[in-house]
Amino acid sequence: MSAPGFAARVVRWQRVHGRHDLPWQNTRDPYRIWLSEIMLQQTQVATVIAYYQRFLARFPHLRSLAAATQDEVLAVWSGLGYYSRGRNLHRAAQHIVAQHRGCFPADYAEVLELPGIGPSTAAAICVFAHGAQHAILDGNVKRLLARQFGIAGYPGDAKVEAKLWSSALAELPSRSIEAYTQGLMDLGNAVCVRGAPRCDACPVALTCDARRRGKTGEIPAPRPRKKLPQRYTRMLVLLHAGSVLLEKRPPTGIWGGLWSLPEAGPDANLAELCAQRYGARISKHAALAPIAHSFTHFRLEIEPQRIAVASLLPRAASPGAVWLPIADALVAAIPTPVRKIIAALGSSGRHRT
Ligand code: ADE
Repeated sequence: MSAPGFAARVVRWQRVHGRHDLPWQNTRDPYRIWLSEIMLQQTQVATVIAYYQRFLARFPHLRSLAAATQDEVLAVWSGLGYYSRGRNLHRAAQHIVAQHRGCFPADYAEVLELPGIGPSTAAAICVFAHGAQHAILDGNVKRLLARQFGIAGYPGDAKVEAKLWSSALAELPSRSIEAYTQGLMDLGNAVCVRGAPRCDACPVALTCDARRRGKTGEIPAPRPRKKLPQRYTRMLVLLHAGSVLLEKRPPTGIWGGLWSLPEAGPDANLAELCAQRYGARISKHAALAPIAHSFTHFRLEIEPQRIAVASLLPRAASPGAVWLPIADALVAAIPTPVRKIIAALGSSGRHRT
């Protein structure tokens, strides 16, 4: 009898050693599976769990998500980062209600058309919700396949990625697709890890090309490092009667649709700017400790300015700006660095201005 193939060993290993009790397992509900796969795109399982449960408690069904405002969705998403995921989720739910009578599509091509869903995410949803035969290829699985089949180079490179897709498709088993897919994820997460892979615990170590050649440290190649450009902004923490001024950001781009602090360049005259834009006469301002935040394509250095507002022109706030009590601002749909800045004001922010 021939030795079991790659997929059979992954399946057998998954049944004994894999994860079986994650909150999005043991269901065929595409809404719950979809939500988990979107949250897991850029966030680790351990972080996702609490957000996932909170999101489902607030939006238990696709229709409740579709009926919400973008603000409500982003407020629940707040803290997970990569907010386009939350905006796309909301848009997709509305699309499904309008075009599919509220039923999440079962067809791979239709799933792939939804905003925020690429080939690997569409495949994971179709596998876990319907047992359909599709191949996943997320970052962890790329690493596992690259090592197993000796596919050198950076997996983000189009040619390398094409080879990885070929092997992902070639290995697809005709049975037990759910356990196989979960097994790839589990191995990539716990065994075939980036730093020091645990080859002694790996069911496919014997056929692993990188291991045989002592190249698990080189395969896959890391992302070619470019130094991220640095940007700078001043964030204005305008405080008045226990409230802070927040402004809604444009719907697309960085932190699109979130509430944030007003910003000013390094040379802006803050007193003039606050008077003109917000009708706020300021009494004093002081620089707070700077914080840095990394995006995919640049690093942002933020210098927050604490600004005490002495008086406001009646009805002078600019469109898209609101004064919110600090406690309410902290639970609004705001980016993580902005929450850190506001949280660091402490209760003193409420009393001093
Ligand atoms: N990463 C992406 N999808 C996942 C899933 N369904 N379970 C665990 N980790 C994942």
